Amino acid sequence: MEEKDQRKYFRNLLLHFRPSTVPERTLRLSLTWGLGGMAVVLVFLLIATGLLLKFIYEPVPGSAYDSILYLQSRVPFGQLLRNLHRWSGNALILLTFLHFLRVFYTGAFDPARRFNWTIGLILFAAVVFSNFTGYLLPWDQIAYWAITISTSMLDYLPVVGVGIKRLILGGTEPGTATLMNFYAIHTAILPALLLFILPFHFWRIRKANGLVIPRSPSEDTGYPGPQVDAMPHLIVREVTTALILLAVILLISMFYNAPLADQANPGLSPNPTKAPWYFMGIQELLMHFHPVFSLLVLPSMLMVGLFALPYIDDPTETAGTWFRSRKGRKMALIAMGVSIIGTVAGVLLDEFQFGLNPSGPPDMITNGLWPFAIILAFCAGFYLLMKKLFSATGSEVIQAIFTLLATAFVVLTVIGIWFRGAGMQLMWAG
Ligand code: HEM
Repeated sequence: MEEKDQRKYFRNLLLHFRPSTVPERTLRLSLTWGLGGMAVVLVFLLIATGLLLKFIYEPVPGSAYDSILYLQSRVPFGQLLRNLHRWSGNALILLTFLHFLRVFYTGAFDPARRFNWTIGLILFAAVVFSNFTGYLLPWDQIAYWAITISTSMLDYLPVVGVGIKRLILGGTEPGTATLMNFYAIHTAILPALLLFILPFHFWRIRKANGLVIPRSPSEDTGYPGPQVDAMPHLIVREVTTALILLAVILLISMFYNAPLADQANPGLSPNPTKAPWYFMGIQELLMHFHPVFSLLVLPSMLMVGLFALPYIDDPTETAGTWFRSRKGRKMALIAMGVSIIGTVAGVLLDEFQFGLNPSGPPDMITNGLWPFAIILAFCAGFYLLMKKLFSATGSEVIQAIFTLLATAFVVLTVIGIWFRGAGMQLMWAG
């Protein structure tokens, strides 16, 4: 084949996934930071390494742990394979979260991208549950007790909690049924779901005529600006980013081993018993709020808010511009500062002053309604203050409130991971 024909063939194949030309402005790294693309690379790396792990792993409590030991000590590159799978899984959660933040802060949920926002939220849930179901598989103390503590949070949920827990565990506590269920969900159902949904995600980007681009009048090139060939301009950037990411994951996997504690022992719980790190925000919340609020009311409100967001906020005018405007960025920064101080102060006050977290059973009024009302009033006050101080648009204020809540969640997660030691006391536990 002549070089020209070869190039044409290559282009036509790629055309199924990429337009042949793209606006030059969408190539700027600062528009997307390549986060979605990196997440895709990790999904494929996880599937590839996961398929290899399946040759060794045995999903039965009696042999799961031994099969991991065998993998690590006897199989050539077995430890590296496990490390790659573990660290890519963690990195995928992080990158998906960052991608979600970039989509939010560039207003890429305008009406043309509304549906893709919804698809993205489902992808996010699939990524988190893929990690969660994989967490149990090594069947060591960390895995066993992390799943026990995470699912035992459901006990607090009235009416449906115990039923949901039984459904997830296939019994009252993690056992053979749980491991087999998690294995099937982790290795078949969720990967299939991801592979099924991802093409829709990409198709919606093409339906929206590509990524968001700023319409700012200061851009002298007009909208959407000059086009360039996807090959080589876009593809070379994507391949370079993918290679750098793979190199970083490989390096991390060469130097840091995925944790493996002693074999699971249902009769001996470690102290402290912590949920997987991405659920530590919820575990921390549970230490301060009545379970009905921390497990039902707040997460449901958050879910509804996220799914409804594109219908209550139309960022079309500013789509593609980070933080909507300079003013929007300032407000988001203020919200972030207020949230860090407010959340840390709230945790400390609850822990040492008010004792809203007594050792006795949580009380619906003191641990639920009161703090909940205070938070709602705080958000409402913040909303009004921002609107008044900055004469901000609705979109900018929604962004500030989102920043307030997202930062609080990150701070709670950080406290849960690094500042809760034995007995879940506040201390440095890094
Ligand atoms: C497995 C998880 C995900 C993968 C692999 C993924 C992949 C991608 C890729 C490759 C892009 C192209 C641009 C870029 O790199 O940023 C993209 C765009 C997009 N994603 Fe995701 N995504 C995921 C999760 C999410 C989540 C959680 C959301 C939000 C809730 C989301 C919403 C969007 C939207 C709205 C776009 C279009 C952005 C634009 O037009 O600028 N995605 N995604």
